[in-house]
Amino acid sequence: MPPQYRQAGPDNPSRKVITHVCGIVGYTGADPALPFLLEGLERLEYRGYDSAGVALVEPDGVYVEKAAGRLSSLVAIVDKSRPAHVGIGHTRWATHGPPTDDNAHPHTDCTGRIAAIHNGIIENYRELRAELQAAGHVFSSETDTEVIPHLLEARAGYSLGDAALYARQRLEGAYAFLAVSADEPDAVVAVRQASPLVLGLGETGNYLASDITALLPYTRDVMILDNGEMAVITGRDVEIRDGAGTVVERAVSHIEWTAEEASRGGYPHFMLKEIMEQPDAWSDCLRGRIGADDSILLEELGLCPGDLESVDRIQLIAAGTAYHACLIAQRWIEEWARVPVRVDVSSEFRYQRPILSPGTVVVAVSQSGETADTLAGVSLAKDAGFPVWAVTNVVGSTLAREVHRVLYTRAGPEVSVCSTKAYTTQLLVLALLADALAGVHSTEPRASVIPHLQSLPGLGAEWLSERRSLGPAITRVASSPSVFYIGRGVDYAVALEGQLKLKEISYIHAEAYPAGELKHGTLALIEQGVPVVAVMSSGALLPKVRSNIMEVRARGGSVLAVIPESLAGEMDDLAETTIPIPTTDERVAPILAALPLQLLAYDVATSLGRDVDKPRNLAKSVTVE
Ligand code: AGP
Repeated sequence: MPPQYRQAGPDNPSRKVITHVCGIVGYTGADPALPFLLEGLERLEYRGYDSAGVALVEPDGVYVEKAAGRLSSLVAIVDKSRPAHVGIGHTRWATHGPPTDDNAHPHTDCTGRIAAIHNGIIENYRELRAELQAAGHVFSSETDTEVIPHLLEARAGYSLGDAALYARQRLEGAYAFLAVSADEPDAVVAVRQASPLVLGLGETGNYLASDITALLPYTRDVMILDNGEMAVITGRDVEIRDGAGTVVERAVSHIEWTAEEASRGGYPHFMLKEIMEQPDAWSDCLRGRIGADDSILLEELGLCPGDLESVDRIQLIAAGTAYHACLIAQRWIEEWARVPVRVDVSSEFRYQRPILSPGTVVVAVSQSGETADTLAGVSLAKDAGFPVWAVTNVVGSTLAREVHRVLYTRAGPEVSVCSTKAYTTQLLVLALLADALAGVHSTEPRASVIPHLQSLPGLGAEWLSERRSLGPAITRVASSPSVFYIGRGVDYAVALEGQLKLKEISYIHAEAYPAGELKHGTLALIEQGVPVVAVMSSGALLPKVRSNIMEVRARGGSVLAVIPESLAGEMDDLAETTIPIPTTDERVAPILAALPLQLLAYDVATSLGRDVDKPRNLAKSVTVE
């Protein structure tokens, strides 16, 4: 029986709550805690969030106040006369589920004496929740976070630090949490497991935060917690223990960054920070979505059982960068699953009379989930009675609320107008969708793509850490009135995204072409020194692209080649500059190829002194037609 489509709701896995990329602050010391907590949260606002809350340790329990929406909603209701000297605060940015008061952090145990806040994803929260409920614990939110205070409560009689070590043993996933207890009124406990946590040493007390930005007005002396470590801080002492529970010494680092630099993680621009964050975003995007046998866990992805079987055709709609992700997904879905796919720019789709045959699923892809043209396309498809799914980065966005299924990209907040990590995580989610469709619809034997997707974070991180300056190539591109990008097959779509990056932030005219199409007109524009970026992410059709490059070289064009390391030698006689990318399975190579193209655009734009994060005439979210 085909799946029944209904609006995403609490009983629909598309709305399963996972919190991620949140802001965390904590204080214990001689001063009242609340002023620091509120200021710290304000300093973390740039990260994006959908609710906020604080917990203060008081003699008779923990005072908790929290509110959905802006920090100002919390400030309006919190009792500012509370003198507590110990507390924790949180801004939540959910990747799944509704941003409600109940789901906002902090969360408490059954007694109201323990409170916890958390960033990241607890993969085994369902099992833990069931276990704790069976033992009599009562839950009051849909979050994965709430298992933490109940796990701590389950260790009644132990110190807060020992209870936190127990919780760390039980929790699976990538996360960081802080907790306080009225039974240990001086202490804040912190656990880091792959989500950042920094400890600040102040004059009057000690601090904890997910991000140095929150601490800078109070202290510049910090200790960074490593993965697996647990810290207990009081106003006077700091104790850090490693995974085995052994006390470790940690050197104090003095931070020289300005607050603005710190909000960008020390990078000069959000765009560069977001480019460098991609390997982590890729890990977050894949986390918990792959089963032991390399199968895709559909419910974790946001789909329901039976959704894929009834898909006969897919209509993808999107704008800008998201449209380019769709063009790549079209190739993947058609090639791997043999399901026909049509891709339309949302602003065109909305005014067409699209022929959507029965069995068509419309998939709208949008980072913000607020793009007016894409939302209009969604309405059109829904009014025509078709199931509509979304791939988006923003929980609670209009798109997420409007569609029948939501597949979240989990890239974390993207601040720079120029989309980078949202794009590559869109590709990852669409690759998972393509692979899942192939599992249902294709009878052709094929090697699993999953291990290759899983290797991307490692390959990307290694490549980014070795990033070399492109020197003269940057100067050549920056001084050219026009730049051309070419590629064949899926690399044409990769090239389209590359040229958009360059145009958007450097203001240099750029165009992308299928490599074989140049000779049908555009070759007339190639003359001495005109830069041509040739994308060969996997080396597919390499001899053909080589011929096209020769046509460019014969007219004096200057070629910059993006090609796998193992094939870089093929460009020795042709390219002025070669950017080798890691050699990997050709199906996932387009994701890696995005990195050099993003960095090329970034380096050119900064060399020209452009306002990289806020390019002229553009908005992060295009909510008008
Ligand atoms: C990308 O760098 C652009 N800023 C732009 O093309 C963007 O991708 C487009 O406006 C679509 O936005 P959305 O993903 O939020 O819908």
